[in-house]
Amino acid sequence: MRVALTGEAVIKMTFRESGMPLSRREFLIDSLASSTLLNWRAQRPSRSHYPFQHGVASGDPLHDGIILWTRITPINDGLSRVASTPLSYHWVVATDAALTQVVANGESHTTAERDFTVKHDIRALLPGRDYYYAFYAQGQWSDTGHFKTLPEVSPERLRLAFTSCSNFAAGYFNVYRDIAERRDLDAVLHLGDYIYEYASLDESLVSGRVHEPMAEAVTLADYRARHACYKADRDSQAMHRQHALIAIWDDHEVANNAWQGGAANHQDATQGVWSERLQAAVQAYYEWMPVRESGNADAPEMYRGYRFGQLLDLSMLDTRLAGREAPEADYVSRHAPERTLLGEAQENWLSERLVQAQDEGVTWKLLGQQVMMAQFGFHQQPFNYDQWDGYPAARQRLFDLVEQQGITGWGVLTGDIHSSWAMTLHHDPFVDRSSPLGFELVTPAVTSEGIGNAATATLAAASLSSVLPHLNFVDFYYRGYVVLDITEQRLQAEWWVVDTVLSPRYSSACLRALTTQPLSPELVLLSDAEVAELTNHRHQELANNHGDHKFSQPLAFLRDWRGAGALTQSEFSSALISGR
Ligand SMILES: [Fe+2]
Repeated sequence: MRVALTGEAVIKMTFRESGMPLSRREFLIDSLASSTLLNWRAQRPSRSHYPFQHGVASGDPLHDGIILWTRITPINDGLSRVASTPLSYHWVVATDAALTQVVANGESHTTAERDFTVKHDIRALLPGRDYYYAFYAQGQWSDTGHFKTLPEVSPERLRLAFTSCSNFAAGYFNVYRDIAERRDLDAVLHLGDYIYEYASLDESLVSGRVHEPMAEAVTLADYRARHACYKADRDSQAMHRQHALIAIWDDHEVANNAWQGGAANHQDATQGVWSERLQAAVQAYYEWMPVRESGNADAPEMYRGYRFGQLLDLSMLDTRLAGREAPEADYVSRHAPERTLLGEAQENWLSERLVQAQDEGVTWKLLGQQVMMAQFGFHQQPFNYDQWDGYPAARQRLFDLVEQQGITGWGVLTGDIHSSWAMTLHHDPFVDRSSPLGFELVTPAVTSEGIGNAATATLAAASLSSVLPHLNFVDFYYRGYVVLDITEQRLQAEWWVVDTVLSPRYSSACLRALTTQPLSPELVLLSDAEVAELTNHRHQELANNHGDHKFSQPLAFLRDWRGAGALTQSEFSSALISGR
């Protein structure tokens, strides 16, 4: 009998062998525990098995280095993550997309201990260069990925994208697709909520996209499977293939409204000890994300910095797990002078970094972080204490530092709130707005909903404009991302949004754009005509890209099908030399 590994074929075969009529649902439940089926899969490695089902990724670029990531899917993966022998692989980095000009390569193996994920910290690369990479395992090539190293001397121009809040169940990752189709970005920042721990079944009913596992993630196995679900998405894979990611977590990588010692969405009685859940979530994050790990799963230290020549110093903050104190309901506790959001170590690190960047004459100093820093609410009556409003003394210390040290070109990039905002930062915007300290730019979500009804969203934005005097603009309706176009003279921020996340067919446009200057943090909105011109230019660029095959390729397993069976080392080397 010819055996195929598709779900339908397995179902039909089981019906025939057992003679018992099972519904599809009964079959699925039954088969999860079926040792017969497990053995059947384990004993028959299939030629249809593709080892790079979760794509490739790069991240945390340095002047001379990069993190490369992939996962080797074991043949017996899926129904049970059983222990298995180590899986070997090769990796290669080259200066061309065909991988003929190889500058580094090597081989290693991965094991069940790290869920068969692969991570390499590659060094000795040159600054400000484009590189391409791929992996080879089980006789097959991965997709080819691309990244840029950070510039050492000041570039004339930098282009970065940033986004956050990508709930798989809430819709298609059209935002990732749109970012993937940009050829001119130096890197992409993800400001957290890269995965969601929720079951999200209500969202699934609308989108048709169902989380794996279907229940809320709590254990290490849950978080691993959840990351695998996200990395199996084709648009996520496209973005990771094209750009290096600089990622920092928010709360949903563990549980809603997390802080160091717990989370709003965690109950010890039913979900176990918080520290064990936190450790499981962090371990899975380290395994599945292209990040340079620091600290350990018990005490993660994910805050870190990047220098783009003299043009930009970027600090990625962890406002969740590094030092955030517990939420406080009463006014006096909330306003305690020693209250901290970053923790002492991170706060000291940030202060030194900002002062040093200023002393060294770096033009722009940006913070990539999670929760809104600007005051949000009525005067003295904030709406949301999960944001910096819940840690007023910590914000005051940062604002004092910026003012007293004369930090210029200072701005904050924020995620978390599923909507688009631009605000100026002041000690107290309700009292004195004569000399802003900096600015805050907030990205909309990849998929997570803000206000889903367009009329209500417009009304909310209009109401808020009258409440917040430091608000430049806000939009609650659209999903999207922000592109930063940075030069010595000015920083331009563009909010790019998609018209839908409920279909993989979408269109994108620039919603708003503004500029600001390093010595004067006022935000100046571009006119409607200028914004329309940005959209027109982008559409023209996309049309041109479709005729440009420089680095827009189909999936590797469709292009480079080689069947099962590994190459020998010499075959691998000659394959490298002859190109692909
Ligand atoms: Fe979110």
